[in-house]
Amino acid sequence: MTTKESLDCACFGEILWDLFEEGSAGKAGAGQTYRRELGGAPTNVAVSLARLGFRASVVGAVGKDRFGDALVSILEAEGVETKHVARLPQRTGITFVSRSDKGEPSFLFYRHQTADAMLPATAVVPACARATFGVVGTSTLVTPDLQAATARFVAELEKAKGDLVVDLNVRAHLWADPAVMKRQIGELVSRAKLVKASEGDLAHLAGKRGLSWLEEHAKGATWLLTRGENGAAAVGAHGQVTAPTKRVRCVDATGAGDAFLAGALGVLLATGARSGKREWADGKTWARALEVGHLMGAKAVSAVGAVNGLSHLDDVKSKLGLARKAGA
Ligand SMILES: Nc1ncnc2c1ncn2[C@@H]1O[C@H](COP(=O)(O)OP(=O)(O)OP(=O)(O)O)[C@@H](O)[C@H]1O
Ligand SMILES: [Mg+2]
Repeated sequence: MTTKESLDCACFGEILWDLFEEGSAGKAGAGQTYRRELGGAPTNVAVSLARLGFRASVVGAVGKDRFGDALVSILEAEGVETKHVARLPQRTGITFVSRSDKGEPSFLFYRHQTADAMLPATAVVPACARATFGVVGTSTLVTPDLQAATARFVAELEKAKGDLVVDLNVRAHLWADPAVMKRQIGELVSRAKLVKASEGDLAHLAGKRGLSWLEEHAKGATWLLTRGENGAAAVGAHGQVTAPTKRVRCVDATGAGDAFLAGALGVLLATGARSGKREWADGKTWARALEVGHLMGAKAVSAVGAVNGLSHLDDVKSKLGLARKAGA
């Protein structure tokens, strides 16, 4: 490892197996079978970026078990940097996923004291964060140990002058106390340069006052606001731009927000947009980020599994190529 190593994006947090019910939704019972797919929001973002040709890493933990071995080898085959994936004695985390007939997922976590939840702060070394962007969610704030690891990642990223991207991805049931959840998430987003928030995330944090909550806690950041089928907006120094969601059949919305975020980050990376730079304050950058975000989101929802729909990406890559020329 050299001290000069650099990355486009370091993604911090969960590396999991998603176990999907097979067959028709709602028919779970005797004989139900499951299929195993790569999961964990930051992991999905890293894989999506790697498939677009960017250098991405995952910083997190899996068990020293077969599930952990398989996750690491898949990530390596995807070209995602795994040298900061800790191998712990605890088991690899699992999420069971069932889907509504509209493709909306419900999650049942088997992540109690699993490796993803036991990542020690000492595993988060400075080299992890030597990236243009660092992506963090909020599930890594739920225990004191994870919180310490998150704080270390954010501090190292800031020291290396990377931009913190927070995908709220609020999983309210993981928190014992909603007041603590709101306070800790509020503290994290106050350091973000970019915040990705779904309608559901903001409802968990502030009911109908989501935008006021962001105004109060993440005033200096740019916000990517997604509303599933109902469009998205980017709000920040550039003002506000909006874009409708692509009309496609949604088979499985697991990972849609992660693919959207990867698409938006791809545009920022391709145009050289960083917080404080001219491109960051240009509405055209954000219009393109929404467009490519939706394109990636539409692909993600077309297949079961967070990243399975992201297989033919030439159209996205060519948009990023155009973006590179236009933004140069
Ligand atoms: N039914 C759908 N059809 C097409 N695209 C979709 C659909 N659902 C989601 N997407 C894509 O994924 C993006 C993110 O979706 P959404 O707003 O549901 O956020 P999310 O992060 O997936 O949600 P959450 O974390 O709350 O589960 C949308 O902006 C869109 O691009
Ligand atoms: Mg989300």
